[in-house]
Amino acid sequence: MNDSATLSQPTAQHLDQPIEAKLNAQSPTLSLHQSFQQIRDLVQQYLRADILRDRLADLPLQWQTPRPRPWQKIRWTEINREQIIGLEADIFLLILKGAIETETPIRGYTQASRQYLTKLHPAMAEFVGGTVDENGHLVRLGLWELEEKRHTPVLTKLYTQLAGQPPVLKPHVARPYQPTGDPYQDLYRHGLHRVATEYGATCLYLWLMVYATGALRTVLAELLMDEINHMTKFWGFGRWLFPTASLLSLAQILMRAFYEKLHNPHRQGSLCHTLHRMKKVLGWPQWSWQHRLTFLYALGQVMKCLWQWNQGLTSAELQRLLGQPLNPM
Ligand SMILES: [Fe+2]
Ligand SMILES: [Fe+2]
Repeated sequence: MNDSATLSQPTAQHLDQPIEAKLNAQSPTLSLHQSFQQIRDLVQQYLRADILRDRLADLPLQWQTPRPRPWQKIRWTEINREQIIGLEADIFLLILKGAIETETPIRGYTQASRQYLTKLHPAMAEFVGGTVDENGHLVRLGLWELEEKRHTPVLTKLYTQLAGQPPVLKPHVARPYQPTGDPYQDLYRHGLHRVATEYGATCLYLWLMVYATGALRTVLAELLMDEINHMTKFWGFGRWLFPTASLLSLAQILMRAFYEKLHNPHRQGSLCHTLHRMKKVLGWPQWSWQHRLTFLYALGQVMKCLWQWNQGLTSAELQRLLGQPLNPM
């Protein structure tokens, strides 16, 4: 990470002060209007175009000298249930548990991604999945794994502190590497899935911040900044490596995922399967309609912001940041 990148990153503490002050002056419930406003504020603070540009510009530096994004110190002793505002504590905990179950098999995610990337882009393969020796044993962790593997212990500690007991978890296994003989198509499809899951995590932690204050909110902000960092890098890398990929190819992938889901409802790894699974583990059926609405609003606001940023990702800009693409699709 370059120093200018670090400086331009918002720190959770200084950004949250105005919102904290506003919340303290309010009742411990949030109106729809207040929730929407907060979502817009958070998107403006954490997903500003200059931050997204900076996170992508950071990628080639991380290929050369990987350095995990530093976190500010977490004030664990200050975290308590009173810091959850406008959302039932049980639902908040259910969501945390779902997030833990999803984040846990990080080794599986990183190794599958490494295998899809190894032949096509060794530096990116190393960034996500580290280095393996000739016997296939992992000898050095990738930066993506180093940053992601701190999420499960932090979320578990958060859950335990808020619930007064550790979570009882259902294990989730990452989908392994499944090549079809077309490495570019495989990587495109897999990369799309990775971008979608990082985007989902970004929206979830941003949305949870709306209903959190104090030290609790600070922890969520660190998780959020990690997810934004990864989402931006994966999105930009995908645009660079697949410069001719269009909305049509994206629609084809989505249609295929829908078709596969229809014919094989238990097939793991498709976007439809992931969406369905996430709704289940996050307890979506138990959310109130207001919370469903604010979450959908967050999904829309984050995507709007990414889409605007995406418009500036011309091939000249991508080549300036990441160099000449290799064997474009
Ligand atoms: Fe994560
Ligand atoms: Fe992530």
